[in-house]
Amino acid sequence: MAASRSSQRNQLLAFLFATIVVALALYLFDRFFGVRMEQGPHTNVAKIPAVILWALLAYLGVRLLNAALFDFAFRVRRGYEAPTLVRNIFTLVAFTVLFVLIFKWFYSEVNLGALFTTSAIFGVIIGLALQDTLGNFFSGISLHADRPFQVGDVIVVGQQKHTGVVEGITWRAIKIRTFQNHIVLVSNSNAAKEAIEVCPRENLNARLVFFSTLYTDSPAKTIHVAREAVRDADNVSPKITPIVRIRDLGDSSIDWEIKYWLEDYAKYNDTDALVRQRVWYALRRSGLTFAFPTRTLHLERKVTTRPITLEEQIADRLSAVDVFSPLSTEELRQLATATVGHVFAPGETLIRAGDEGSSMFVVHNGRVEVQVAENGRPRTVAVLTEGNFFGEMGLFTGEPRTASVVATEETEVLEIGHAAMKQILETNPDLAESISWTIAERKASLAAGSKQAAQASIEESAGLLSSIKRFFGLR
Ligand code: CMP
Repeated sequence: MAASRSSQRNQLLAFLFATIVVALALYLFDRFFGVRMEQGPHTNVAKIPAVILWALLAYLGVRLLNAALFDFAFRVRRGYEAPTLVRNIFTLVAFTVLFVLIFKWFYSEVNLGALFTTSAIFGVIIGLALQDTLGNFFSGISLHADRPFQVGDVIVVGQQKHTGVVEGITWRAIKIRTFQNHIVLVSNSNAAKEAIEVCPRENLNARLVFFSTLYTDSPAKTIHVAREAVRDADNVSPKITPIVRIRDLGDSSIDWEIKYWLEDYAKYNDTDALVRQRVWYALRRSGLTFAFPTRTLHLERKVTTRPITLEEQIADRLSAVDVFSPLSTEELRQLATATVGHVFAPGETLIRAGDEGSSMFVVHNGRVEVQVAENGRPRTVAVLTEGNFFGEMGLFTGEPRTASVVATEETEVLEIGHAAMKQILETNPDLAESISWTIAERKASLAAGSKQAAQASIEESAGLLSSIKRFFGLR
């Protein structure tokens, strides 16, 4: 910036110097030839050097005025440089006017207007010769008037999709610096005909980056890991949280896209690369795997030490549920065999208030919220995590679901149906009692806010046990 200002100052001084030299030349010319020129036989021809010198002086004067006006005055008043096209038009118009005045002064007998208007051939020649130039010129004017983009914006233009940062718009072309540091000039008339994709500098422009993971990796975990990895990478805007979403379910991979917003869009190549690198490291740390073409092979292997079976893991989980603590190991194993596992994504509803349902669920891992509607909006009455259960009210009383249950993170639950519970209750009738206490407590908590209703539901609990027994056909 400082360098360009000093070069502008030097340019201004050079113009000043050249103007003084030409003015001096004119003075000398006038002193030595002025009188002879007026008296000479070929006056018109003799005037040519004087016209040229005056034209040169006019040109230098216009350039000087241009530099003074646009390099200094315009920047001081507006805070930015005047567009090149405006400067060029100024130079052209000012010089033409001055030249016509000089010409008229020397050759007052020549009618310039008539010369231009009557000369049809001159018009055709000028028209044909300047066809492209004029096209570019007027397209340049319309680009300046429309201001679809500015210096510093990234644009994609032309059929060859030239991409780069706009460096300037002249009366002939748009100058773009590509990401390989090449200069591309797209003529204004061509640019006016094409669609131009503009990524304004002041705008939060987004990019998409793709990756794929194995089907065995959890989507919720992948979203969390990738998003956190990207959000604090350099040049990723903190104003909008990056979005990680499934783009496709491919043949051997889950295909993902990351959408992120950039502070400086002109650096998108580097930022894309950094984002990919961050995702690689984050996936690696979290035990998630990039996909590659896969095939499922089932190998049978004789092992000496017996691995823990899924059934044993489930029995283990059930043994940690307080109401099942009276059950023997064998009963727990039986119950484990009868359960069905389900996995839910964050935000999914596991149970909807008012629905019919005849099974209960144990949270194997994850977290759910029990919600009731209040003034049309959900109110959370409880948060349940690993080892907690829900849905027992519907299962033991046969009544519609009293609340909705929503997963707040990826959650795995074990479903216990009516038949499996009936079998357990037949050998463990005490279980019905402990469950009836939980139901009474929860009903009371649901009725919280109305003391009467809470009291009534606790009193109901005695009747609850007998209705559970009746419902399951127990004595
Ligand atoms: P159910 O009525 O079958 O379905 C909704 C479930 O939400 C309900 O069974 C209970 O398991 C659970 N629930 C309702 N209220 C509470 C509460 N206050 N605390 C914990 N869980 C509850």
